[in-house]
Amino acid sequence: MDFEKICKERYSVRSFSDKKVEEEKISAILNLVRLAPTAKNNQPYEVYVVSSEKGLEEMKSARANCYNAQLIFAVCADEEKAWKNFYSGENSTLQDVGIIATTIMYGAKEYGLEGIYICMFDPAKFAEVFDLPENLSPKCLVAVGYPAEDAAPSERHFQRREIEEFVHRV
Ligand SMILES: Cc1cc2nc3c(=O)[nH]c(=O)nc-3n(C[C@H](O)[C@H](O)[C@H](O)COP(=O)(O)O)c2cc1C
Repeated sequence: MDFEKICKERYSVRSFSDKKVEEEKISAILNLVRLAPTAKNNQPYEVYVVSSEKGLEEMKSARANCYNAQLIFAVCADEEKAWKNFYSGENSTLQDVGIIATTIMYGAKEYGLEGIYICMFDPAKFAEVFDLPENLSPKCLVAVGYPAEDAAPSERHFQRREIEEFVHRV
């Protein structure tokens, strides 16, 4: 699928079918992830792939509504590896993790899947349930799968600002 079509057809799917995602497609998405840019190429992320019955069940205690997705990528930031801006003192984890999550979401569409970003979950619970090392903080989930028959874009999906509203030519 070409990139313009992917961007135009993408929407957050909030109803997934029970169909499992094929292992080849999971690998294909992860292969795109490893090509993604990160600040100074520090690659300060770890990705937890949740697809087993046990893992999906345990996700519930992290208080995430994943809309019946059978595959969840949890993108975690490694604060120790992240690049730090000398001027602001801020590190790049959120930008890096955002790029990784977006690569997963658009990559999913490339392979005939749909996805949704989910930040509404309890990261401390996730870290506890999946026994994360101290240096990792789970930042965002991308639920991926085949859409259920009733899947449809939300009303919010169509509320888009005009280009003139957000562009400042200087
Ligand atoms: C950083 C981020 C966090 C989000 N977290 C959630 C979430 O926790 N639950 C949810 O249902 N949707 C979540 N979304 C999806 C947004 O609500 C959605 O992208 C937005 O409403 C635009 O709709 P669209 O994706 O269908 O175009 C999140 C999106 C982003 C980018």
